[in-house]
Amino acid sequence: MKDTILNKRVVFVTGKGGAGKTTITAAMAIAAASHNKNVLIVETHENEALGSHFGQIRFTEKPSRLDSNIWGVRIDPKTVLEEYIQRYVTVPFVAYQIIQSRIFEHFAVAAPGLKEVMILSEIWRFEQKKNSNTKTPLYDLIIVDSPATGHGLSLFRVPSTLISMFQTGPIAVQTRWVEDMLKDSTRSCLVLVALPEELPVNEALEFERKAENDLNMGVAAIIVNMIYPEIFSPNEVAVIERMDNSEPGKKQPALEAARRQIVRRKVQQSHIHRLITEGEHPVFQLPFYYTNNLDQEQIKDIAEYIRTGLFKTA
Ligand SMILES: Nc1ncnc2c1ncn2[C@@H]1O[C@H](COP(=O)(O)OP(=O)(O)OP(=O)(O)O)[C@@H](O)[C@H]1O
Ligand SMILES: [Mg+2]
Repeated sequence: MKDTILNKRVVFVTGKGGAGKTTITAAMAIAAASHNKNVLIVETHENEALGSHFGQIRFTEKPSRLDSNIWGVRIDPKTVLEEYIQRYVTVPFVAYQIIQSRIFEHFAVAAPGLKEVMILSEIWRFEQKKNSNTKTPLYDLIIVDSPATGHGLSLFRVPSTLISMFQTGPIAVQTRWVEDMLKDSTRSCLVLVALPEELPVNEALEFERKAENDLNMGVAAIIVNMIYPEIFSPNEVAVIERMDNSEPGKKQPALEAARRQIVRRKVQQSHIHRLITEGEHPVFQLPFYYTNNLDQEQIKDIAEYIRTGLFKTA
């Protein structure tokens, strides 16, 4: 079977803040669902906007059906930790006391990496869930709208820290299962969303090095989002560049705007070129849409790009 994103079980969509992670998570779900996959999309942090792409304000902590084969869920690490304690402390009263205590609050907030492991453990549980009749996985593909890159890396780096803290016990076991999932590149992968600008491209190049060297996680692709479309043909560009717009009092705003667009596109293209030549992973390109807020049609359009492009190459 070809090793493509569609054949993985868990895809973590990460990247710089505002680069388009949430938009691409939603579009990727639509694209995967059109391949008859049962898809679960996961939001992991506050102020999420994933639900709005499916007519919901907010996801709940139990998966809810968004479309014929798309489900959405929100993971709240504190709730997961509470469930965890209820599962392992079998005397309900004691479990209740622990959860209510200030030690719990302190532990939940302060133990380094615990929050991340709770999030990843919940994702692992969704990955393991089976259909009770067919015994096949309940969700073929889980797409995680992950925190922005700075935080994203710490999300994936956690397990080894915790493994060294808890040598034995349920948290240690759970952490190892999570680590196995993350490090198995046939099961999980990262998709990095970048913008075609200098610093984001530098960050993307650095991220892909760290992902494979420090984290041992597979990067399936880098998506460059918001690329200015080619409005003018090379001949038209040459003509626009030759036109004289210097006569005082007769400057043509449309010509100025066209020139600005040409320059911006050239700059973007040079950064994309750098990412393709210096990076090690497939680079997949998505256009910029001239609008304030993407609507359903544009999300479907991005889904179509993903279905016919990204899913064929990565
Ligand atoms: N290709 C595009 N063309 C135009 N606008 C876009 C494009 N992709 C995303 N946007 C818009 O850019 C904004 C940021 O996108 P989105 O919320 O998906 O980014 P994000 O990486 O999830 O941000 P955050 O880090 O804040 O969670 C949104 O208003 C979205 O509609
Ligand atoms: Mg987002």
